[in-house]
Amino acid sequence: MEAKAIPLLSPYTMGRFRLSHRVVHAPLTRSRCYNSLPQEHVSLYYSQRASEGGLIIAEATGISETAQGYPNTPGIWTREQVEAWKPVVEGVHRKGGVFFCQIWHVGRASTYGFDGVEIHCAFGYLIEQFMKDSVNDRTDKYGGSVENRCRFALEVIQATADEIGSDRVGVRLSPYSNCLDCWDSDPDALGLYMIQAMNKLGVLYCSMVEPEVVKVEDKVQIPYKLLHFRKAFAGTFIVAGGYNREEGNKAISEGYTDLVAYGKWFLANPDLPKRFELNASFEQVLLPDVTVMIQAFCSEDSDVLLCFARFLFYDLVTLVHWEQNAADCREVDYEPSDSGNAGKEKISARDPWNSKEFCLRF
Ligand SMILES: Cc1cc2nc3c(=O)[nH]c(=O)nc-3n(C[C@H](O)[C@H](O)[C@H](O)COP(=O)(O)O)c2cc1C
Repeated sequence: MEAKAIPLLSPYTMGRFRLSHRVVHAPLTRSRCYNSLPQEHVSLYYSQRASEGGLIIAEATGISETAQGYPNTPGIWTREQVEAWKPVVEGVHRKGGVFFCQIWHVGRASTYGFDGVEIHCAFGYLIEQFMKDSVNDRTDKYGGSVENRCRFALEVIQATADEIGSDRVGVRLSPYSNCLDCWDSDPDALGLYMIQAMNKLGVLYCSMVEPEVVKVEDKVQIPYKLLHFRKAFAGTFIVAGGYNREEGNKAISEGYTDLVAYGKWFLANPDLPKRFELNASFEQVLLPDVTVMIQAFCSEDSDVLLCFARFLFYDLVTLVHWEQNAADCREVDYEPSDSGNAGKEKISARDPWNSKEFCLRF
């Protein structure tokens, strides 16, 4: 297959960081950091997806005990956790990647060897609960007007910038989302207010999520609703939400964004930039049935939740590699393929709910 120059693979300078391409690994919660500690398989996961000059944003990482909301998500508030992140960061740096840690909740921040941090102000978590008027019912200086509702977010951003420099701080926003019942009656005003304030603080990048993506005749329709935000923001703009190779190229060549973050595709295709380069085929992501997901969430059985995580976070290659002694998995040795079409190895594991075999091919 012949490599072709495409907009997604053109270089880009983001402040102090020289990116060799524009395919960003979106933050993806994986629920595999037992005791909130990133383990060996976490290192494997991120180094598999690292590339020379490629930006990787790590999964949402709690910076205090009270920040945690999901089982087995990582932390970065104890010395032990910081030490555990070090080999993960080193693995990405060894491959020449630029690595940001997405933090949620509030508090002190240091980069701990990461190149920067992304502050999670999206998807209905703590900071967004302040920002959006469907849930913020405060009557003090953190509630009411858009200025008041954004105050907390901006204080967190300011405090982080003071600590590590605004040229190492990214912010993720989702003004149009309605996650965890958190929505706003005027998402445009909210987003623009945040962006203007972030400009004043010199924030390095704004990563923004498209409104819900719909499929029409099996083809993803990107809403392309973020242009006014992109135009207003002075730093690097990153979009995410349903992008594929074609849409990513289009968004960059038309100046709709600087960089494109890929979530599910990066999970299932660790060598995603290479596959884009070669226009190779892609592994499809597997989503569990909705009923199964609900069952898992309602269950208090941690094994079920873990299985749920395995299904949802379909990067089985990493998991199977790590759990090579587990009875229901077999050892695989995965290397992203130079040809971009690794399609050789077959991995299977048992579906705990209906005992059917499911497979991912690589
Ligand atoms: C399994 C999974 C975990 C996610 N975890 C996070 C997260 O920790 N932080 C975050 O900001 N977004 C998270 N997201 C959202 C993704 O970063 C991304 O915005 C979303 O998947 C849409 O992009 P895609 O269509 O390329 O997957 C997650 C999405 C998925 C599917």
